[in-house]
Amino acid sequence: MTAILLKKDQVFHVMDPYYGGLWELDRVGIEQYLKFLEIYKNDEVSTEKIKKKYSKIISQEMIDFMIKEKMPIDTTYFPRVILENINEAEDGIIVPPEIILEVNRKCNYRCPWCYIPTMEEQDETLTLKEIEEQIIIPFVNKGAKCWTLTGGEPSVTFERTLSIVKMISKYTKEKHGEEADISILSNGYKFSEYAEKYFEAGVSKVQFQLSSPYEEEEIKLRNPKGGINSFEHVIEGVKKANELRYFTSINMVVSPDKNIKGIKDMILLADNLKLDMLRITPVVMAGMAKENGICLDIENYTKIKNNTKAGRELLKEDSTLEIYLPHFDLENDRPMRCGLGFIDFYIDYRGIVFPCNNLIDDELKCDPGTIKEFTGPEIWFGSKMLNRFRDYLNTNIGEECGACEYRGMCVGNCIARCWQRYGKFDLLEMPKECFRTI
Ligand SMILES: C[S@@+](CC[C@H](N)C(=O)[O-])C[C@H]1O[C@@H](n2cnc3c(N)ncnc32)[C@H](O)[C@@H]1O
Ligand code: SF4
Ligand code: SF4
Repeated sequence: MTAILLKKDQVFHVMDPYYGGLWELDRVGIEQYLKFLEIYKNDEVSTEKIKKKYSKIISQEMIDFMIKEKMPIDTTYFPRVILENINEAEDGIIVPPEIILEVNRKCNYRCPWCYIPTMEEQDETLTLKEIEEQIIIPFVNKGAKCWTLTGGEPSVTFERTLSIVKMISKYTKEKHGEEADISILSNGYKFSEYAEKYFEAGVSKVQFQLSSPYEEEEIKLRNPKGGINSFEHVIEGVKKANELRYFTSINMVVSPDKNIKGIKDMILLADNLKLDMLRITPVVMAGMAKENGICLDIENYTKIKNNTKAGRELLKEDSTLEIYLPHFDLENDRPMRCGLGFIDFYIDYRGIVFPCNNLIDDELKCDPGTIKEFTGPEIWFGSKMLNRFRDYLNTNIGEECGACEYRGMCVGNCIARCWQRYGKFDLLEMPKECFRTI
């Protein structure tokens, strides 16, 4: 849960887009909040101890308020850096995002649901120098802490990926004296072989993709090239990652009829493997998924929900596995909000920026241009495309959709799902052809 700060005429808004939290603070309040985040992170002590130890720095009222309101404490940025630069902050978003970087667009698997429409690098790939000068250094200078490296498959270009990790780590340490928070998304390929080098370079989190708990079905579904056993690569990768104490997760993309019935066993496998987290992701109808007509209906969603519940119930009480499935039961009238415009910044292999990984259609490029012409922060803070998603004081859900019992399955909180299904970014008016009638 990441906090975001926005400012209008010296009034600051702290926002938690995923869970709908919004808090208004004045200048003194925001300074105290940022100090609190800094202290909390560094001390990892209980809130009671924080009260005792820091009530001279942060007012008792503010500490009580933050605890009572359960204000978010995870950030994509170093709070101290935001605090140092707060006098120069301009209206709008004032914190850097989590940078999600496609290190390549090459992949040795062929998942039929991949949101990337084609695995061919049709344009020039960013050079390491461009990545360093236009993305890493300027974002680190703005206080960015969180980075996710994705692809294609990052491990297909291992040396390049490793160089990027090293640059992020180096600049973050030099500038802020702290470790960056670096994640890798991987199909699992050769991860056990590369895990140690990634870890030493500064990667601390890995998310593997695995589509089925059954070896044969998994290989059939993700279709790896050249006889690769995609199941084994993930299992070996997880074991190695655990040994090295990565934060380890699996993402299971669920597509109609294919792997819904495997959810229960996937939960047991994840628990057995001692994963930190299992994500169950209903497929987004983007890229190849759209091209291949892969799209879930009400019956599929209901099975996903029920199978996940049944799987959870099979876990022992002392299981530490966290299972993440998007909420299907949303309260009425809750607007669609997610990382879009607030948390995530997606840069493709050419340096073109898109609002999120599921919104990489050509017409959705973030102005003003590519990373070759503008630095990452210039685009993040100045993009009209991103600013249109920051209209957080207005709703984007009309009465009919707001009260619809299928809203969680149809689009949920995800603006990309809405765009891919209906070609628009809001549901102020109910679409003529609608999910509940298909
Ligand atoms: C495009 S992949 C790139 C990294 C790596 N090759 C992998 O498979 O993890 C990044 C993540 O997006 C997920 N993904 C791909 N297509 C998707 C879709 N249509 N809907 C939801 N998730 C998708 C994958 O499961 C994977 O976890
Ligand atoms: S989801 Fe990952 S592994 Fe599958 S085709 Fe896309 S990039 Fe490759
Ligand atoms: S588009 Fe249809 S299914 Fe989706 S939220 Fe609106 S009324 Fe419900």
